[in-house]
Amino acid sequence: MTDSSETQVSEAQIAVHWREEEYYPPPEKFVKQANANDPAILDRFTEDKFPDCFIEYADLLTWDKRWDTVLDTSTAPFWKWFVGGKLNASYNCVDRHAAANPDKTAVIWVPELEADETLFISYGQLLRQVNEFAALLSDFAGLKKGDRVTLHMPMVPEAVVTMLACARLGVIHSQVFGGFSGNACGTRIADSGSRILITMDGYYRAGAMQDHKVKADEAVAEAARQDQEVDKVLVWRRKEGEYQSKIPMVDGRDFFVNDIIGKYAGHEVAPVSLDATDSLFLMYTSGTTGRPKGAQHSVGGYMAYVAGTSKYYQDIHQDDMYWCLADIGWITGHSYIVYGPLALGTTTILYEGVPNYPDAGRPWRIAEKLGVNIFHTSPTSIRMLRKVGPDEPTKYNYHFKCMTTVGEPIEPEVWRWYYHSVGKDQAAITDTWWQTETGGFLGSTLPGLQPMKPGSCGPGALGIFPVIYDEDRNEVPKGSGTAGNICIRNPWPSIMQTVWGQPERFLDVYYRKYNTDPNSKDWHDWPYFCGDGALEAEDGYFRILGRIDDVINVAGHRLGTKELESAALTVPEVAEAAAVPVIDDIRGRMVEMYVSLKPGFEASPAMEAKVTGAIETEIGKIARPKNVWIVPDMPKTRSGKIMRRVIASVSNFTDVGDVTTLANPEVVEGIRHHVQSAKVAKGDAPRELTETELAEIKAFGAE
Ligand code: WTA
Repeated sequence: MTDSSETQVSEAQIAVHWREEEYYPPPEKFVKQANANDPAILDRFTEDKFPDCFIEYADLLTWDKRWDTVLDTSTAPFWKWFVGGKLNASYNCVDRHAAANPDKTAVIWVPELEADETLFISYGQLLRQVNEFAALLSDFAGLKKGDRVTLHMPMVPEAVVTMLACARLGVIHSQVFGGFSGNACGTRIADSGSRILITMDGYYRAGAMQDHKVKADEAVAEAARQDQEVDKVLVWRRKEGEYQSKIPMVDGRDFFVNDIIGKYAGHEVAPVSLDATDSLFLMYTSGTTGRPKGAQHSVGGYMAYVAGTSKYYQDIHQDDMYWCLADIGWITGHSYIVYGPLALGTTTILYEGVPNYPDAGRPWRIAEKLGVNIFHTSPTSIRMLRKVGPDEPTKYNYHFKCMTTVGEPIEPEVWRWYYHSVGKDQAAITDTWWQTETGGFLGSTLPGLQPMKPGSCGPGALGIFPVIYDEDRNEVPKGSGTAGNICIRNPWPSIMQTVWGQPERFLDVYYRKYNTDPNSKDWHDWPYFCGDGALEAEDGYFRILGRIDDVINVAGHRLGTKELESAALTVPEVAEAAAVPVIDDIRGRMVEMYVSLKPGFEASPAMEAKVTGAIETEIGKIARPKNVWIVPDMPKTRSGKIMRRVIASVSNFTDVGDVTTLANPEVVEGIRHHVQSAKVAKGDAPRELTETELAEIKAFGAE
């Protein structure tokens, strides 16, 4: 790889030409009231102040005992933050605000059906609910500190109550995205070793009641196949006195929470004083290999970092009306619906359904009705709302002071619509780049101090020092237009502690590549490898290009190609499978599956449907491929590796490049003809790709 005459283009060497966008200064009205509007804050977080700079974040919390050491590097790179400190996340998010201000609204829940009543839960009520459910978890479910429990909850306030009740006891919650299938949930139950599953019978999505309990039964069965027994399934009811599922409750295993919680009415459970380095939750995410990675997050460092970044980057003040339109089952929901905003004692809004139900004006009606002034969402939602209701925001009388975007790169045109139409030229935008593993923001502008630049997330966040390396660990020169692998040079408080049960994988995936001395206890020797390609402009702003591992980012959701492929391979007739991304104007990327069948089987629409069905069963509807292409043979290298780059080019109508070195170059033309003519016939041919997109497709699946 060091040979510069090497003709194969590696991701780090790709020259990406892109236009520098102009700056947008933060609106003056915003700056006046911003939590961070004094440039002195930048001096407090310079590298020479590291790691003590983060004490400012930790001081936003109430500690039972203060820490002795801010950062302990003795077990590098398994960093330990605020060692010796003791605290409880539930206490910090609920009790202390309930004591000071019991009637203040903590959570607002907006059910999807517009005629249904919005629910307001005060800090006092939240405290009571969290206590009662914690009592149930400890007494009825026998859960205690350090146990793992899997949650498969939709966007309902009971999800918040459940998380905080676990946090109160020191029980490590592992919330699986509600849209994931029963099997995906079961795999995560098994990996985390949970013997309790907490779910809900149903929820509304796009106007229809979903049978969610059915997934619990699938999950328990899948976990059992992987040798993990689930003793109890606790089922919240979506509607009091009703049951939304066609699947019967299993006697002795399944229990309605609503039926047993009464026994714990008025019970109080003291928040368990945890070590800062104890774990708060696991959040599973995808990577290069099939087995999902449980990013394990700490109590102290994580809470400090999400509180600090919520304060400075989302500009949350206690009296703000904050709405994050993400799902609670993703890291964004954990950090920036629940833990960050509640730690600061603000009001956080939870919306059950899809943003465009019943029409594209819904988010703006909610914003108007509730007086939302901070809005947080993803480029996918923004693209979709822009497409289906470009003029809707102007019809509603709401005023955002700041808006956040997360999950994928946002195209400058889309950014401008967000700024002008949704933000009405009055709101500061923070484009926040980060990951499940990082717990909180890594790159973003400080909204009151740093101008915005569409398409770039901004500089490293306070106390975060990114660097871009090439494959040989040379720093890529700033502003050179050369992409490389973005890394963070230093640890920060909310970096995951490890990958649950896979410490070797933690080392391999995130540190091995750029660590020069595996015995070093000095953090300077351990840059964190993010897995994203990026560019740094002259001004120190970063532009994130996307994943460089085998991950496809669909609407902000990370799907591993290996997981998709193993799902397709559960269809008995399938011999080989390959997943590739196609550029999609709404969802960013979508998945296309290529499969070849075992001898004796014929391609048919029914077979395609079977593959789609298998992916929905194994992963969930979000992974549903745009197309399944059944091909006679896959293009392969001489060593037998499927050339995903070639089929990705076919799917995206880009140049397949040199295929002469393949073992079977003759198959490529047949596949190209079959796929592209079918796509053209369906009206599904993509627009011309940008340089960045071309580079991504060209690099896809490269080793
Ligand atoms: C991508 C979501 C560009 C990136 C918080 C990252 C982004 C992956 C941005 C993590 C952004 C996230 N601009 N790309 N603002 N935010 N990404 O773990 O590729 O679901 O590595 O965490 O999403 O996705 P994850």
